[in-house]
Amino acid sequence: MDKIVIEGGFPLTGEIAISGAKNSAIKLMVVSLLTDQKVTLTNMPRLRDTRFLGQLLAHMGVEVEEGPGAKMTLHAADLSNTTAPYDLVRKMRASFNVLGPLLARAGEAKVSLPGGCAIGARPVDLHLKSLEAMGAKIKLDQGYVIASAKGGLKGAEITFPFISVGATEHAMLTAVLAKGETVLNNAAREPEIVDLAECLNAMGAKITGAGRSEVRIEGVSKLSGVTHSVVPDRIEAGTYALAAATAGGSVRLTNIRSDHLGSLWPLIAQAGAKVSLDETTVLIERGGGRPKPVDVDTQAYPGFPTDLQAQFMGLMCLADGVSIIRENIFENRFMHCPELARMGADITVTGREAIVRGVKEYRAAPVMATDLRASASLINAGLAARGETHISRVYHLDRGFEHIEVKLGQCGARIRREKE
Ligand code: EPZ
Repeated sequence: MDKIVIEGGFPLTGEIAISGAKNSAIKLMVVSLLTDQKVTLTNMPRLRDTRFLGQLLAHMGVEVEEGPGAKMTLHAADLSNTTAPYDLVRKMRASFNVLGPLLARAGEAKVSLPGGCAIGARPVDLHLKSLEAMGAKIKLDQGYVIASAKGGLKGAEITFPFISVGATEHAMLTAVLAKGETVLNNAAREPEIVDLAECLNAMGAKITGAGRSEVRIEGVSKLSGVTHSVVPDRIEAGTYALAAATAGGSVRLTNIRSDHLGSLWPLIAQAGAKVSLDETTVLIERGGGRPKPVDVDTQAYPGFPTDLQAQFMGLMCLADGVSIIRENIFENRFMHCPELARMGADITVTGREAIVRGVKEYRAAPVMATDLRASASLINAGLAARGETHISRVYHLDRGFEHIEVKLGQCGARIRREKE
């Protein structure tokens, strides 16, 4: 297994090109199940998660070709298998989203339940209810969802009791080939949902309202192939912006959609860093002096993303004062706190709230990555800590950050990967 070693305490200076969004790419790959023609994705990030999903899709008969560059081609001329086994779904929750498309295309599917994960229970009840509303017959058997829709799926009015990114995407991916109109109320509005809708519409789907709370999908009988560019990764961009704010220095991020991080920029500025934006780039600059404390409350988009909570906390641990960070999306997303505490942070967690009392500096220490975004907060802390920080269990990081040590290395970070 690999670990990351950082000799920290030096400001970052340079430029980082942001990759395509993991959380969009893995839904866009699933789109290939809906057509017998080629789906070509550009601006594709190369990650463990995209590799896993490629393996699952290949298991179903999809021809998956990576490259050249940031390109992936997927071709599901015929589906040879409509089962998604536990071993492949367990590694990545989002692979559960193959269920609806398999039903829509083949009329049947057997997909393992994803189970819980480190950040919370993460059930899939909303996914299953929307598929049932569209006419799917669903049974649960030995950890598998066995679903059929022999007479085809039909449009339905679905009202989500609370916002779910995955359930909104799954319903959209299924409804595009259902007969008649589907209306999704209280839909998630994340940029990745808009990206998915744009890709599907370019294939001939009829989706309106993506990015708003009410999404309408008029089913069509067939979708064509497509070439689509994956939206830039707002979480990767936010992570590096916070790395610059935490370690200090001057970092320009390119290939971003700055409007997708409208909730982050004012908070970074409030914390005392200078933020200069245009549509596709941002420059983050922070000189001497400690950051100012800022309270954060995670919310569904356009609110502050839960996927940047750990990294923002990483900055607040050095603030000159107390900040309160509230996690509203996942019930157990504070696992980075004890690891940050190993580096000298002073954090008290009570339920969904963390009280962060800023300290003057981080101390380098051996720490352990517990999940993807938690790992990123440890990297940012390691960049600021004087001395050598060793971050083990780096495979979490490789799920969602492309070439993290190369990108940070370009900004002068002394960061390397080693075998444990
Ligand atoms: C997506 O997860 C992202 N994953 C997550 O990113 C992100 O944190 C999350 O959205 C929120 O923005 C991908 O896109 C692959 P939800 P998702 O359904 O779709 C509960 C990362 O680090 N819920 O919006 O699974 C659920 O437990 C990851 O990249 C149900 O109760 O999130 C959670 O508390 C982590 N029943 C809340 O809803 C359901 O059927 C929101 O989850 C579905 C969800």
